[in-house]
Amino acid sequence: MLWLSPIYPSPQDDAGYDISDYRDIDPTFGSMEEFDALLAAVHERGMKLVMDLVVNHTSDEHPWFVESRASKDNPMRDWYWWRPAREGMNAGDPGAEPNNWGSIFSGPAWELDDNTGEYYLHLFSRKQPDLNWENSEVRQAIYSMMRWWLDRGVDGYRMDVINFISKDTNLPNGHVRDGGLSGDAMPHFVDGPRIHEFLQEMHREVFAGREGLITVGEMPGVTIEEARLYTDPARNELDMVFQFEHVQVDHGATFWDPRPLRLRDLKTILGRWQAGLAEVGWNSLYWNNHDQPRVVSRFGDDGAHRVHAAKMLGTVLHLHRGTPYVYQGEELGMTNAPFDSIEDFRDIQSLNHFAEAVSTGADPKAVLAALRVRSRDNARTPMQWDDTENAGFTTGTPWIAVNPNYKVINAQAEMADDDSVFHHYRRLIELRHTEPVVAHGDFHMLFTDHDQVYAFTRRYGSTELLVLANFSGHPTTIEVPDADRWQGTEVVIANYPVDATENLRDLTLRPFEGRVYRLR
Ligand code: NOJ
Repeated sequence: MLWLSPIYPSPQDDAGYDISDYRDIDPTFGSMEEFDALLAAVHERGMKLVMDLVVNHTSDEHPWFVESRASKDNPMRDWYWWRPAREGMNAGDPGAEPNNWGSIFSGPAWELDDNTGEYYLHLFSRKQPDLNWENSEVRQAIYSMMRWWLDRGVDGYRMDVINFISKDTNLPNGHVRDGGLSGDAMPHFVDGPRIHEFLQEMHREVFAGREGLITVGEMPGVTIEEARLYTDPARNELDMVFQFEHVQVDHGATFWDPRPLRLRDLKTILGRWQAGLAEVGWNSLYWNNHDQPRVVSRFGDDGAHRVHAAKMLGTVLHLHRGTPYVYQGEELGMTNAPFDSIEDFRDIQSLNHFAEAVSTGADPKAVLAALRVRSRDNARTPMQWDDTENAGFTTGTPWIAVNPNYKVINAQAEMADDDSVFHHYRRLIELRHTEPVVAHGDFHMLFTDHDQVYAFTRRYGSTELLVLANFSGHPTTIEVPDADRWQGTEVVIANYPVDATENLRDLTLRPFEGRVYRLR
């Protein structure tokens, strides 16, 4: 399946997550005709295409918002969250916002609209006003748009921050103003009071009676207990959710405070999600997307061990139970970018944070250092197709610089090399398709307290898998549990040559080694 990030008309304030027309294609990406041709070509190959559904908010240039802001008695006024200044204060005064919520992209979550003297809510940028899902006309307009794309042939939706759509209508203060994805105000809009009702209604109105579709809800802050409800097939809500716990494992006090990975924390988190959705519900599996720094730089090594690390990380992820997602370039082992100065960044979240932090006295060098590690732009440099100018991505000027390592890391080179990260990913996908235990097997974590080793078993009927991985650049020696049972069994995928006579009671895993044994 192919998931496309938003390609709809957009002022591109937030890389297309600010949509001004839900029923067209932005000329940056092509035309509706080209979209239809793409969809047909995807289907011809037996693949499916999933669109990004961004309906927590629209662009402030969407006609709905243009209407809504026009006057207080406009019929569409209630389609968004409009509120007067806090009682006893004048609109525009510092602190007069209707509540103290912070935007996830810095600053307050409220913007004063001079036209009517009221504020509107925007959890993201001020150009992304939040839709009011309490209003049934809003919901029906969205469902109708969703049916329109399904009628065109698309195969489902990745739903942007879909667990934010039901807010506590009292809009209570958080304890402190806090933006970011671990924000203090989050309990007032994450997994809100009507969220399950809305998703069940959406299912009835949009998906019921249609076959072969897929839905995945992006859900910052979602708990396992909630995820089980969202993905329980009997409840008719979603097929799976994107949870965030494992990609927050290296956050310190805030989103912008990176700290080194503690492998045992990662295992605790992913192990809990595996167990939590074992009986009911379903996991999605991901290291990367357009919001995350590149995993090989983040949890692996983008220097001397890059190829081994990228393959090991792919192996560990793809051998979990759930649906794996591969983000463009991950299958090549693409790395974070060598951003030099703030001028090199494009992402609104990064730019806003830099401006706010520096204006409140932070050292620009320190802020930049955090951006280099955390910024979403790390994932957004152009796809590296070949070693020609701009990595073969464009003959024009890309909106953000190409990662200079494209001369070495590119699709053309990797397709020609059977030992590449690319071919390793193909083998992982093939293994999932040919070996039912990968998709269906149970999951049991091993070495939970080990600082370097990530290991687990999978079992389905009489087939078992043992996954062994070294998450460090140093060799590490382990005694494999049940070593005698595994001794001499077949290694089905590995990123180093494996010597079948190695003693599993005293096994040394090489830097970023990952291998999978199969027992029948
Ligand atoms: C999540 C998307 O993945 C991210 O890129 C975007 O900025 C926010 N939602 C707001 O739409």
